[in-house]
Amino acid sequence: MPRKLSIDPDTIVPMHKAPAPDPGEDFNVLFIGAGNIMFGSDEGPWNHSFRLEHKLGPRLKVIALIDPWLERAAQVLELKRASFVKSAYEHTRTYKTLDDFIADMDDDEMPQAVWVGSPPEFRGSDEPGKDIELQLLKHFPGVALFIEKPVTTGDVGKALKVAKAINDAKTTCSVGYMLRYLKCVQKMKQIIEDNNLVVMATVARYVCAYERILKHHWWNKSKSGGPILEQGTHFCDLSRYFGGEVDIPSVSAHSLEFYEPAGHLSKIGFDEEQIVPAEQRIPRVTAATWKYKSGAVGSFTHAVALQGRNYSCVLEVYADGYQMRLEDPYNNPALFVRRPGDDFEETYRYTDDDPFFTEVANMIDVIEGGPDKAEILSSFEDAVRTYEFTWAIRKASEASRKLPPNIPKAD
Ligand SMILES: NC(=O)c1ccc[n+]([C@@H]2O[C@H](COP(=O)([O-])OP(=O)(O)OC[C@H]3O[C@@H](n4cnc5c(N)ncnc54)[C@H](O)[C@@H]3O)[C@@H](O)[C@H]2O)c1
Repeated sequence: MPRKLSIDPDTIVPMHKAPAPDPGEDFNVLFIGAGNIMFGSDEGPWNHSFRLEHKLGPRLKVIALIDPWLERAAQVLELKRASFVKSAYEHTRTYKTLDDFIADMDDDEMPQAVWVGSPPEFRGSDEPGKDIELQLLKHFPGVALFIEKPVTTGDVGKALKVAKAINDAKTTCSVGYMLRYLKCVQKMKQIIEDNNLVVMATVARYVCAYERILKHHWWNKSKSGGPILEQGTHFCDLSRYFGGEVDIPSVSAHSLEFYEPAGHLSKIGFDEEQIVPAEQRIPRVTAATWKYKSGAVGSFTHAVALQGRNYSCVLEVYADGYQMRLEDPYNNPALFVRRPGDDFEETYRYTDDDPFFTEVANMIDVIEGGPDKAEILSSFEDAVRTYEFTWAIRKASEASRKLPPNIPKAD
């Protein structure tokens, strides 16, 4: 049976109410990447190891952690081993590369899932060194893959080849577009399905708080891909989740750049001028519009504008008689719904909703053939389409800039 692309929001169980993991066999997981997405940071709530520990309990066994930065790997393991989740990490070995692990792997160390949180420039391609998915399919046929977003920073065609290889191998694969698992988002899907709605427009706004974003590579387009590919991608993906396929040639966009009078930011936490080459500095604002293949219209504004901590993010979805407005999905998600026959707005708030946990829990349940309601909501191929869309926005905004003569054009 084809899998559904939505889940009943009423079946989503918050992490602290999730039933104790069933006792059972060890569940071997291989981790690739020892950074923030895998082990957490004060940048945000992401932390896959923490969610896996809660989903699998004492069954979780992290067989190996692969990261060329071995000191970082040793450091995160030391913290885990000093805590109550020690049993999951007691025997975890660290390696610089997947090949090193494979050369050293014992027969009983076959993973049931590989969790990939390495930087996207090392993934999503068939080029050596960037082909981790193809390597994993070759060495671990049939083993489920969890891959972080964005799926790559390289060529879309190559990423589609990887998607095809994953599909051909019928490998369970989930990509980390976790906002799809928010209860509010699933409520929106439910309203659309229950009322047979056809989406007419999506209107998205994502304004990040930049003061605490201190990683230099985030501010450098050649390293991160820029804010639409790296961060706005979550809202581009949600827009597609509701609006359907984007008519890529229709994408048009404008940006506000650092060299324009309105583009000055006063609180960047390092000396951008010294560290990021002018041609690689990120736009402060990007505003895009496009057509969906259905004829519906989409728009998205991303801005690097706020200070403080919290982001300001809103997604509106319109259909005949309906307005659904998702607010603050990161901190305090709320959904406001206006329906035909009334100007009143219903409000939905779900306390303790943790889309990162729901994403991880659904993946494990699908692998284990658990509750039939478990679904993977973001496939690799779908995520490549989001990637393609974000590049279309970046390219359209760059094509419409008026570059001053002293700033070279980046590749
Ligand atoms: N879904 C989300 O909300 C979310 C949040 C944060 C990060 N992410 C994504 O997760 C990915 C990683 O981000 P991060 O914040 O953890 O970065 P990070 O810089 O904190 O960590 C990346 C780690 O990968 C290691 N690494 C580098 N090359 C590697 C390779 N070839 N193989 C294995 N490991 C390698 C680095 O040494 C580092 O330890 C990115 O794609 C990012 O967009 C997603």
